[in-house]
Amino acid sequence: MAQAQRNPAILPPGESAAADANREFEFSETDFRGLAQLAYDHTGITLADSKRNLVYSRVSRRVRTLGLTSFKQYREYLARDDNKGEIENFINAISTNLTKFFREAHHFDHFRTHVASAFARASRSGARRLRVWSAGCSTGEEPYTIAVVLRKEVPDVLHLDARILATDIDTDVLAKAARGEYPPDSTEQIPKVYLPYFAETDGDGRAKSIAVAREVRSLIAFRRLNLMMEAWPFKGPFDAIFCRNVMIYFDNPTKADLVERFTQYIKPGGWLYIGHSESLIGSHPGLQLVGRTIYRRDA
Ligand SMILES: C[S@@+](CC[C@H](N)C(=O)[O-])C[C@H]1O[C@@H](n2cnc3c(N)ncnc32)[C@H](O)[C@@H]1O
Repeated sequence: MAQAQRNPAILPPGESAAADANREFEFSETDFRGLAQLAYDHTGITLADSKRNLVYSRVSRRVRTLGLTSFKQYREYLARDDNKGEIENFINAISTNLTKFFREAHHFDHFRTHVASAFARASRSGARRLRVWSAGCSTGEEPYTIAVVLRKEVPDVLHLDARILATDIDTDVLAKAARGEYPPDSTEQIPKVYLPYFAETDGDGRAKSIAVAREVRSLIAFRRLNLMMEAWPFKGPFDAIFCRNVMIYFDNPTKADLVERFTQYIKPGGWLYIGHSESLIGSHPGLQLVGRTIYRRDA
């Protein structure tokens, strides 16, 4: 694992500790480097120098909530043994969670034909088990997209042993994902054939929202999982793994480690989907590129 390495995207130690005079809290170069290293050690996320303002604005909410007056105090707070829980809030603050239904839609066309329909056919000859992992699922739009495709393509899916594992390191997004409720405009990307699996809620005095159908939700288990963990608490194997727009924040050694581990968790002949702007550098024994950002494990 790349955990113990130094984050290569962080500037070397220097004494430029000038804080921006307009900022509410003092935020020195040392503070930024310290927090970036902590993020890297705990999550694999590389916070390049260009992310300094982003780190300030996201973490300053924690500084304010805790009644502290500087980032130095916040780093000291994080370092204290009795404040271990704060690391979770810190990780939630720095993770980037952008996602949407049917994002990078060609993956779901491929998934529909090569995984869902193939499983529907195989189930007619007695196959029952299907496992899909959405690794870095954020607020849930990705696993719900997988689930509605399965629900539509596999008529018996609710009676088969078909499960989607949806994991993320960020506990705030997981709580939203588990609720399965979204703003009305979030359905814009959803093809019409899948809209019956989303219902408008009455709003209950609040603005209306869109709720994912209970039967679709029942296909998914949401769990907290740090992909950088030494051992993942399940065995797989998975018919397909989606890890999209997650590795983009990791450096190459971390990415390479992770892809090797994913490969071990994919069934022979199974699939790995990664984000469109991500590329797997170097050779990945056992994986073949078969389409745009779609890999197949050797059968
Ligand atoms: C930009 S979102 C991608 C969501 C979805 N996969 C998609 O493509 O729309 C990236 C997610 O990866 C999660 N993440 C980042 N580092 C992680 C780690 N070490 N372990 C697990 N999840 C992580 C973040 O919390 C965030 O929710």
